[in-house]
Amino acid sequence: MNLLGVNIDHVATIRQARKADEPDPVWAAVEAELGGADGITFHLREDRRHISDRDAEVLKRTVATKLNMEASIDAKIIRLACALKPDQVTLVPERREELTTEGGLDVIRLRTRVRTAVKKLRDAGIDTSAFVEPAPEQIEASAEAGFEAVEIWTGGYAHAKGQKRRDAQLTRLNEAIDVGLSCGLVVHAGHGLTYRNVTPVAELMGFTEFNIGHSIVSRAVIVGMREAVREMKTLLREAKRPIVLLPDEQ
Ligand code: PXP
Repeated sequence: MNLLGVNIDHVATIRQARKADEPDPVWAAVEAELGGADGITFHLREDRRHISDRDAEVLKRTVATKLNMEASIDAKIIRLACALKPDQVTLVPERREELTTEGGLDVIRLRTRVRTAVKKLRDAGIDTSAFVEPAPEQIEASAEAGFEAVEIWTGGYAHAKGQKRRDAQLTRLNEAIDVGLSCGLVVHAGHGLTYRNVTPVAELMGFTEFNIGHSIVSRAVIVGMREAVREMKTLLREAKRPIVLLPDEQ
């Protein structure tokens, strides 16, 4: 379907560089929606390095599309998420020393804690998604843990150097989509996607939603958020999908 979730964390990163009150990520979310975003994504990190509790609360009251909160499995964060009730929570790994989320959640190793978090979120009426690497066993474990969706980490593709390595990563993503869909999951994509590299990923059949942050916020600094989102939406819309022939056309 190629829906676009715009991650507005880095608008708050600029604000926090001065500990000031601008730019406001809530304004950025409104502008992103006016540019055609299908959803707004934010990450309320345990260290509150960019998005604050106030941002989360005002986003909940103002976002008119889909609100997707990225969260760690920390019990305090899950409690906050259950009280906030965004449309979707995407569970992600979190380390204080990382610059951004590095790789996917280890749903297999953290099975017990993940299941507890998913149950609490689902009981609160929130859709759940697991941010995982394109590894079949992690995707299957996500389905078993009760998630409705997985967001496949596209960082491996984004960081791959050379066409051969990129093609190998695209094949991994394609296989991950197949595993996710056959487990009955909705399959999203995210991390490291840019105006330059998004099209081959958007051409794969089966991704529903793309969560993109750094590249859009970077472009927004130059052309404005509304235009930056419009340009990314155009790329997603124009990505060619393989033609599927109906049985009597084959
Ligand atoms: N999806 C998830 C789960 C993430 O953690 C992030 C980064 O916060 C993104 C998507 C967006 O990644 P990027 O900023 O590289 O577009």
